[in-house]
Amino acid sequence: MAPSEQRDSATPTALVTGATGGIGGAIARLFAENGVRVLATGRDPDRAAAFGRGLATATGTECLGVELDVTNQGTLEALKTTAEEFGPIDWVINNAGVADTAPVLSQSNQPLLRRMMEVNFYGPLRLFHLFAPGMIERGHGRVVQIASSAALQGYPYVTAYSSTKHALLGWSRSAALECAPKGVGISTICPHYVDTPLTDRSIESMKEKTGRTDEDLRAFVAGQNPSGVIVAPEEVAKVALELARGDLGGVVIEMPGGSTETIDEGVAIAVPATGGRN
Ligand SMILES: NC(=O)c1ccc[n+]([C@@H]2O[C@H](COP(=O)([O-])OP(=O)(O)OC[C@H]3O[C@@H](n4cnc5c(N)ncnc54)[C@H](OP(=O)(O)O)[C@@H]3O)[C@@H](O)[C@H]2O)c1
Repeated sequence: MAPSEQRDSATPTALVTGATGGIGGAIARLFAENGVRVLATGRDPDRAAAFGRGLATATGTECLGVELDVTNQGTLEALKTTAEEFGPIDWVINNAGVADTAPVLSQSNQPLLRRMMEVNFYGPLRLFHLFAPGMIERGHGRVVQIASSAALQGYPYVTAYSSTKHALLGWSRSAALECAPKGVGISTICPHYVDTPLTDRSIESMKEKTGRTDEDLRAFVAGQNPSGVIVAPEEVAKVALELARGDLGGVVIEMPGGSTETIDEGVAIAVPATGGRN
C-alpha cells in the first residue's frame, strides 16, 4: 500500500523547498515536531535524503528528503512522482532562494537578475503549477512564500534580488485573491536579515571587500534590521506554521526581528461545501 493510502487524513503533508538551508531547515523541523509530514528538498540528493532521515528519526514523524533544483525540469518531474506517492501535498512552503549582489550599472547585473528570477520568482511559480491544481481539486491547500523585506523596500546593490522578491510578492497578492474562494491560501513572509548560511555568506563577502571583522559586520547587519536584532530562523518557521494552519489567504507578514508586523490582513479562505479540510 502506498504511504498516501495509509495516512491519517487529518495529518497535513508539507513540501518544504530548500530544507537543507537555514530557514527551510527550521521550517521542516518545526513542522515535523508538530506532526506535519514533511517532503523536504535540497539540491544535493544525498544531503537531502540524509536530512529527511534525520528529521524522521528525531521527530518520529514520517519525513522524506529528495533532490530538487527549482530551475531543473527533470528534478521537478521526479519530485511530482515522489509527491504522488508520499502526498497528497497540502502545504507548499516556497523557501528555496538565492541572494547575490551587484552594482546597478555593472555588466553582471542583468544576467544576475535573469538567474535569480529563475530561482526566486519562477521557482515558486513552477511549484505552484505542479501542486495547486491538486489542492484546488481537493478544495484545500496552503502556499507560504518566503520572500524578504526586499519585497517591501529597496536597498543598495540588490536591484536584482529585490526585483525577484517584489515580483514574488506582487504575484502572490493577486494569486491569493483568486485562489482563496477555491479553498487555497497563499501568504507571504518578508523577513529582514535572518541568521542563516545565506547571511553568513553576505558577511563573508563584506569582509573580503572591506576588511572589517566578523564581529563588527554581524553588528552592522543586525543594525540594518529595524529592531537591531537578527531574526532567528525558528521565528520564521513559527510564522510559516501559523499561516499554513490558519484560515486566511493573502496575509503578508514583515519580520523586523523579535516581532512580526502584519502588512496585509488577508482574506478568508473558502471551506468547500463537501466538507473538505481547511
Ligand atoms: N537569510 C536572510 O537574511 C533572509 C532574509 C529574507 C529572506 N530570505 C529568504 O529565505 C529563503 C531561505 O534563505 P536562507 O537564508 O535559509 O538561505 P540558505 O541557508 O542559503 O538556504 C537557501 C536554500 O535554498 C536552496 N536553493 C538555492 N538555489 C536553489 C535552486 N535553484 N533550487 C532549489 N533550491 C535552491 C539551497 O539549496 P542547497 O541547500 O542545496 O544549497 C538552500 O537549501 C530564501 O528565499 C531567501 O531569499 C533570507
